[in-house]
Amino acid sequence: MISDRRLHISNLLSERPGERAAGEAIAPPTTPQRALTNGHANNAGPRPITRFVENGREYYAYGDRVVYPLPCDDVELERLDALHSMIHERALNNRLVNAELDWQAQRRLHILDVGYGTGIWANDLARLNTNISVVGIDLCSNSPARSDDTPNATFVAPLDFTQPDWGFQPASFDLIRMSQLSGCVPDWLQLYSTALRYLRAGDGFIEHIEIDWALRSLHNTEVTPGMRAVQEWWSLMCQASSLLNGSMAYREDTAELLLAAGFTDLNHRMIRIPLQASPRDARDYLLKRWYIGIMCGDDHRHNSMNSFEALSMSLFTRQLQMHPDAVRQLCQNVREAYKANRAPFFHNIHIWTARKPVS
Ligand SMILES: C[S@@+](CC[C@H](N)C(=O)[O-])C[C@H]1O[C@@H](n2cnc3c(N)ncnc32)[C@H](O)[C@@H]1O
Repeated sequence: MISDRRLHISNLLSERPGERAAGEAIAPPTTPQRALTNGHANNAGPRPITRFVENGREYYAYGDRVVYPLPCDDVELERLDALHSMIHERALNNRLVNAELDWQAQRRLHILDVGYGTGIWANDLARLNTNISVVGIDLCSNSPARSDDTPNATFVAPLDFTQPDWGFQPASFDLIRMSQLSGCVPDWLQLYSTALRYLRAGDGFIEHIEIDWALRSLHNTEVTPGMRAVQEWWSLMCQASSLLNGSMAYREDTAELLLAAGFTDLNHRMIRIPLQASPRDARDYLLKRWYIGIMCGDDHRHNSMNSFEALSMSLFTRQLQMHPDAVRQLCQNVREAYKANRAPFFHNIHIWTARKPVS
């Protein structure tokens, strides 16, 4: 079943004729066989999640603190789903899992999605592999994560992943997956170490996906005058997010952190999102169109996702005391810069996998 939100996304990101629609199912890995159980608890204690509206968007607070700077309204859920489709369908050629899991194992595989967002990844994976069990944890319970056709996916919220106790049996998961958590993690070593504890020894994998939002170029090309707004916006993002819950910047020392946490067999894959591509190179061209569509809005449509404002409005107004109108103007400049850009800049998607050793 394709949700209304997904249908809207596939409309917004119209493809060239003959291309797959954004909401089509992703090909399954081979299905595992047998069932086990697990238990989980809630570590969030008495701190409630409250929702509030600020500068026209809905956010959530955890207790008396705003720990997560992005909105949590329908527009944001749609944006997260669109990024999910861009990463897994476009960039990863319909792969949901990159780690070398033993899908033929004679037991039920248990998979944990840390910071599940809309639950789209957990639901997609559970739908395609009915013999596995997928659990998502998040601070905010974003409906409609729970889906009738995926009884093997469960969602636990509020559960704070920065706490060392997630309430599961140690060594109970075959895969712990995290995606797009930059800006939410004050201590990556602690997060990786907690994940390690909940993974099976010997054949338990971590998989971590992040978009590096910094402008990149092959030969360290100087940022063109047209793209200076992008550079300014990104520099403010790094500054503001560091003042809250950890920088939005991709961690260049991810390998060292995973090794320090105790992982082995590291694998790093990097996929380029080109900001300039010719229609003759269909894959790059579509990836670029998806990225620009999600981040800047389509030329012919209303920019309903407002990605740059979604990412920065709360951070810039709360941490840097910028006026909302100044944030809107900067975000508008950034959108225009991206759309007008003809220089070969790109962003990177990083995919890390690593294994928990036997001892
Ligand atoms: C940018 S979204 C990414 C969602 C999803 N992983 C994806 O790739 O679409 C980050 C998610 O992490 C959750 N989050 C942030 N801080 C958290 C925390 N301390 N504990 C649990 N979840 C948290 C947010 O509520 C949000 O759903």
